[in-house]
Amino acid sequence: MTILAPSLLAADFSRLGEMVKEVEKAGAQWLHLDIMDGHFVPNISFGAGIVKNLRPISRLFFDVHLMIAEPEKYLNDFKNAGADLICFHYEAAKAPVVLLQTIAALGLKAGISVKPNTPCQRLAELLPYCDLVLVMSVEPGFGGQSFMTEMLDKVKWLKKMKQAKGYRYQIEIDGGINRETAVQAVAAGAEVLVAGTAVFGAQDIGAEVAYYTGL
Ligand code: DX5
Ligand code: ZN
Repeated sequence: MTILAPSLLAADFSRLGEMVKEVEKAGAQWLHLDIMDGHFVPNISFGAGIVKNLRPISRLFFDVHLMIAEPEKYLNDFKNAGADLICFHYEAAKAPVVLLQTIAALGLKAGISVKPNTPCQRLAELLPYCDLVLVMSVEPGFGGQSFMTEMLDKVKWLKKMKQAKGYRYQIEIDGGINRETAVQAVAAGAEVLVAGTAVFGAQDIGAEVAYYTGL
């Protein structure tokens, strides 16, 4: 079964709680929380306060995707807000191994993400420390963009490395996931699908959740 992490960025922010409950009831396992600072990416989303407010209403696994500069400054905030996993960007990290170890020491799962122009091979030394590797299949910053098919090669490489070395990380893909690209991503080795527009923009959210989790 594929893990679906609906991205809250595409939800109606006036009804956040209801929307989280709806995807949870429909069978989504994770909730993807996109944190943007207007600096690492050219957009601002929301911060730890929203995560903290959602925590008591949901049992979903909170997958926090930090698209921010100086991620080391905010790990405690997101831990205290109720994150289950914190994923930061390789491009924003001065000492990625230390960051991964710090997140683990907080008792959380630790993830790292790469932008489309960053080769995955740069992560080679870091892979033993990762619980999750997030492949961006769009330029981070906005929902509703088109899937970059070339990024499937990164997913395949990560799958190969995982099998060859026995690493524990889960492979997640984020950006432009729809019914067609999801099939390609899962075939390449993706285990966690992030989907914003495809889930929260759908007429029948429950049907979409059932489709993606059933892949
Ligand atoms: C983009 C975010 C994504 C985004 C995905 O920077 O990391 O999680 O919400 O949105 P869709 O699924 O609409 O491409
Ligand atoms: Zn994301």
